[in-house]
Amino acid sequence: MWRFGLSIFKYQGIAMSCKVRVQPSGHEFTVKGGESVLDAALRQGVILPYGCRNGTCGSCKGRIVAGHVTYETPTPALGADEQAAGLALFCQARPQGDLSIEVRAVPFSPPAPCRTSR
Ligand code: FES
Repeated sequence: MWRFGLSIFKYQGIAMSCKVRVQPSGHEFTVKGGESVLDAALRQGVILPYGCRNGTCGSCKGRIVAGHVTYETPTPALGADEQAAGLALFCQARPQGDLSIEVRAVPFSPPAPCRTSR
């Protein structure tokens, strides 16, 4: 299957690799099979908002513009009405193909230099 110019190999209904585009920042990254959107983003240096990373705080909530996700665990911070409205918890969401998502931007600032003195 080809979407957004990237091949998706499916094995037993699980997308093995897919591409995510972030709006409005324009960042793109790849999600490996079984990986959450947030874990994939952080692994590739794309900073998305998050807190608990277990589906309870809602800090990673954003909108799915195009594509579909599934969840392997309950998502207490995401109501059925929110899910129906296209919102997702990216710390738990597993893409089922290429995605386009909308999340608030998190400014990246490199770590300050470490200064020690004796
Ligand atoms: S980081 Fe807390 S719900 Fe996703």
